[in-house]
Amino acid sequence: METAKLTLQGKDYELPVFEGTEGEVAIDCRKLRGTTGAVAYDPGFGNTGSCSSDITFIDGEAGILRYRGYPIDQLATQLPFTKVAYMLIHGDLPDEDTYQRWRTGLTYHTLIHEDMKKFFEGYPPHAHPMAILASMVASMSTYYPESDDPQDIELNIIRLIAKIKTLAAFAYKKSIGQPFIYPQNDLSYSANFLKMMFAVPAEPYEVSPTLERALNTLLILHADHEQNCSTSTVRMVGSSGANLFASIAAGICALWGPLHGGANQAVLEMLQSIADDGCDYKKYIALAKDKDSEFRLMGFGHRVYKNRDPRAEILKSAADDVLAELGVDDPLLEVAENLEEVALNDPYFKERKLFPNVDFYSGIIYRAMGIPTDMFTVMFALGRLPGWIAQWKEMRDAPKGRIHRPRQIYTGANRRDV
Ligand code: CMC
Repeated sequence: METAKLTLQGKDYELPVFEGTEGEVAIDCRKLRGTTGAVAYDPGFGNTGSCSSDITFIDGEAGILRYRGYPIDQLATQLPFTKVAYMLIHGDLPDEDTYQRWRTGLTYHTLIHEDMKKFFEGYPPHAHPMAILASMVASMSTYYPESDDPQDIELNIIRLIAKIKTLAAFAYKKSIGQPFIYPQNDLSYSANFLKMMFAVPAEPYEVSPTLERALNTLLILHADHEQNCSTSTVRMVGSSGANLFASIAAGICALWGPLHGGANQAVLEMLQSIADDGCDYKKYIALAKDKDSEFRLMGFGHRVYKNRDPRAEILKSAADDVLAELGVDDPLLEVAENLEEVALNDPYFKERKLFPNVDFYSGIIYRAMGIPTDMFTVMFALGRLPGWIAQWKEMRDAPKGRIHRPRQIYTGANRRDV
């Protein structure tokens, strides 16, 4: 086996090296502290492989994203979200019988316990739906306690995927003071969610096939992204033995931040303020480059992608199609396109390889679909759920799993007396 040589304080050490199935090379540091006394220092974990995983492959330089080996563009255009969710969690695409059983499970578990509806009454009217979603998902553990039986775990996984869209739609209905709309079993996952969001009891509601298709694509594009902040959080929390619902609720909280899933809301707010300010793109680009300013170009840049985010490319053309099909003329699409052009031609963005990421265009589509801005990150969470579950399950099923517990380098005061 190949090894890496490390010289530290005059002594030589050999560290094992291993390779992933796509040729990624890793130096195995598991015995680093034990043999050398030193730890690996990597704030932000940009160089740290926290696990090995069979789920998602990303080549950030080449702009490649695959779930279980399947290219993202094929998945996003050819499959229903529920089939992709099955494949992420179980490893392979299901045969027809397996898929029908999976679909039936996801259909018949969409209702939430009636008592849970009362929780919604306690939130203030303008509570952020991400706060509601995280608390409701954590609360599910009180109704569906965990056991180690794989069949019980599978049932809780089905319950969670089935019910999360009901919880998300109810959170929205609560925020606008409309009655909850119950799920309808003969609809697809996406159509069912759209109906619960937009139907009212007083009128018939037909789900638009354009919206259903667009939502299906959006959910698939967000379904997994290997060890990002929220997924690492799910694994971190799950590594303590915390149950599925608690681990996913933690992931939802991590996703909420504006540097992660909250960026889609932040992008729309940024585009709106640029439009309100007379579309002075150069001013905002200058602000994004100014190290004394907190302002960043939201929806730009990515820890892993350094040439293109393949999800953003699919979404950019989806945004054009959806707006055209719906007959929506959104001035913010033009603002986004102009801002992108100015940024991509600016040396600061070129040198740092900052490109539009998945969140840059998703908000435009959500807006065209009638989804309010503070629900955007909830939409991301609905999509990311199967990925979180797949990663949680992979961690739980792995032999010799250890609690995640990084080290630190202490830089505070030496011992002193009071
Ligand atoms: N606007 C202006 N400058 C930026 C931006 C940006 N959006 N992103 C990175 N930079 C600069 C940064 O200041 C740094 O410059 P310098 O080398 O001079 O110090 C350089 O580019 C490298 O940035 P970084 O902060 O070290 O990169 P990171 O890998 O730690 O952060 C990021 C990645 C996505 C958090 C960051 O690019 C960012 O804040 N983007 C805006 C928020 C956003 O769109 N987030 C959504 C990410 S995609 C969805 C998801 O998976 O969450």
